[in-house]
Formats: sequence, C-alpha cells, structure tokens
Amino acid sequence: MKQMKREDELFLTKRIAELLNRETHMESMLQKVLEAMLELTDLQTGWMFLLGENKAYTLAAHARLPEALAYDHCYHMCEGGCRCLDLCGEGRLKKAINIIECQRIDEAIQQGRGDTEGIIYHASVPLKTGDHLFGLLNVASPHKRKFSKDELHLLEAMALQIGTAYERIRLAERERAMEIMEERNRLARDLHDSVNQHLFSIMYTANGTKGLTAEDKVKAQLDRIHELSREALTEMKALIWQLRTEHISEGLEARFNWYAHKLELRVSCAITKEPLGESVEAVLWKIAQEAMNNIKKHASSTQTTIIVEKKEKNIILEVIDNGTGFSVEEVDQTGFGLTSMKERARLLDGSFAIVSAPGVGTQVKVTVPVKGEE
Ligand SMILES: Nc1ncnc2c1ncn2[C@@H]1O[C@H](COP(=O)(O)OP(=O)(O)O)[C@@H](O)[C@H]1O
Ligand SMILES: [Mg+2]
Repeated sequence: MKQMKREDELFLTKRIAELLNRETHMESMLQKVLEAMLELTDLQTGWMFLLGENKAYTLAAHARLPEALAYDHCYHMCEGGCRCLDLCGEGRLKKAINIIECQRIDEAIQQGRGDTEGIIYHASVPLKTGDHLFGLLNVASPHKRKFSKDELHLLEAMALQIGTAYERIRLAERERAMEIMEERNRLARDLHDSVNQHLFSIMYTANGTKGLTAEDKVKAQLDRIHELSREALTEMKALIWQLRTEHISEGLEARFNWYAHKLELRVSCAITKEPLGESVEAVLWKIAQEAMNNIKKHASSTQTTIIVEKKEKNIILEVIDNGTGFSVEEVDQTGFGLTSMKERARLLDGSFAIVSAPGVGTQVKVTVPVKGEE
C-alpha cells in the first residue's frame, strides 16, 4: 500500500462507510468490504478470521489469495495455528502490526503449494467492537515487508468501521433469532391449545360413542378412530416439544434428559464435558431428538443410551436402543426422519450411519469433524 493522498484516503473512507452502511448480512459484509479495500488501495490480497471460543477461528472472507494460500480450497487457511492468531489469543494484538513471519506462507512455500505471487509478509489488524476482539484482518502486497505507521493507521480506521458494522449486524441477527424463538413458542402454544385439544376430544368422543351402538363393526371402527387419534396426539406432543425453545440454553445432557422424560423413554447419557461449539450442539440436539422420536414411535425399547464423545478430530454422537430394530435395506430411506438426520450431519460436513436388524435394536451414529481448532 503506497502512501495515499489525502483525498484518496477520504474517498476510500467514504466508500467503505457507504458500503458498510448498506450491508445487512455478516458474511457478505465482510467479503465485500475486503474486496472494496483491495480495489481502492494498491493492496494485493487480504483475508479475515473471526475468532470463536477456545482458540477456534473461521476464515470469514478472503480475496485474491495467491495460489499458495488458496491451495486445496483454502484448507490450510482454515486449520492450524499461526503467529497472528496466537497474538490474538494472548490478548497482545491491540493495534495494527507488521507480521514478518507468517507460518501459513512459510509452510505453503516449504510444501510447494504453488505460487505465492510475491506475498511473504502481511499486516494484521485487530477487528474489535469496543474492547472485544472478534476477528482479524490480514492484508498484503507483493514483496512488501513493512507497512508504514500511516498505512497501519488507515487500516485501523477501516477496522473500526468494520467493527461498527459487525456489531450492528450481530444485534440485528440476535433480534431476529429472538423473534424466531418467540414465533416458535407461539406456534407450539397454538398447536397445543387448538389441534391438541381437538384430537383429545375426538379420542374421547370415539370411546363414548361406542356405548351408543350394538354393532360390532361400528365398534371396531370407533376403536380405530380412538387409536389413530391417540397416535396423532402422541406425535403432536413430540412436535410441540420440539418447537419449544426454552431448553435451548441448557447443556446437551440436560436437554436429552428433558426430552427423554417428555417422551417417557428410559435414557442414560454419557456426554463429554468438553465444549463442542454452538452449531455442533444445535445439530446434535436435533438429530438426537429425531432418533428419540423414532425410538418412541417404532422401537418399543426398554433402554436407550446416548453417547457424545470427542475423539481426535471428530465429535461422535451415538443413540442406541434395545428395541425391535428393523431391516435397514428394506425400509424407505427417503423418509423424512432419516433424511433430515443425514442432511443435518452433512451440514457440518459430517457423516450419518444407522445400524439395525430385527430383534437386536438400532444404533444411530453421527460423526462430525472438529472445525477451526488448533
Ligand atoms: N429406532 C428405531 N427402531 C425401529 N425402527 C426404526 C427406528 N428408527 C427408524 N426406524 C424405521 O425406519 C423408518 C424410517 O424412519 P423415519 O425416516 O424417521 O420415518 P418415520 O419415523 O416417519 O416412519 C421407520 O418407519 C421405521 O420403520
Ligand atoms: Mg421418524
């Protein structure tokens, strides 16, 4: 980045402010602001990390990465540690600095991952809202060793603007999530108050009507109505509990136990105490719920075991029942329950397997890779 003229700096600041002001989605905001910065300066490339808990991070945006860094769909940008992230972790990245040894670049050169296009050094700029460090912006130009004080100041000014937009979008997203939660709770309440009550009435009316007829055939039909509405009621209840969100903030074990209790299943849990990250927990929770629904509905089991463990680079969920089991080849694999479990696992680049045979019970196993951890 050459020393910019004052009017160019003003133009850059204004353009960035305009862009940030328009954006309402986090990913798109980060990507576009990065691209605009490269376009309006003579910077060659840039990338942004968002920081998570426990040294986790994600590559949130990147633009014009040299071949060596983009290698293998940016795999090496998304895993492993590096100096700038270490500095963040130690709370030592307080302002924009020059990074003269970048492990990612060095490693890419050593491993021969392709052309670095002259990129060897970069500047690292902390992304903050108030005092909270939420990410990191890295920028570089070919053969540029050192960014001057003024250049670093300008980058800091950009980072401050990004921080403000980040906070605004984050708050809007949180508000939206709250609205969705309220909506789900409202739907659950409505279903409970209307449909559920009707099903209940049908069930009892069918029973009551039996006393008004001597016809065996009619009695049998009324029994059928009674049975069907009882089943519908059970499914409806499960649906309502799934919609309700009040237990979302609790740990997985508490949620599993709560849901098992609701379904009247006897469940024992062995859940790792290690943090798994919000998105992984949310997915495992949904999959386990569906697995428990199936056990309630199909398995007639007396004992269910739920295991969540972290093994090397994977998080594994197992839901095992000792019920009737079924022949996996013969059953419709396109059913909603099994499909949604598979899709949810795939969302996290994970795998889903179901092992079952008549008479021996069923085992659902989901494996998802641990992401962005050192
Ligand atoms: N734990 C289980 N025990 C016995 N059978 C099961 C179990 N889980 C799934 N199944 C069988 O797999 C089928 C497909 O499941 P799913 O896709 O959830 O559809 P649904 O529950 O709506 O029938 C079920 O109909 C049932 O025959
Ligand atoms: Mg099902």
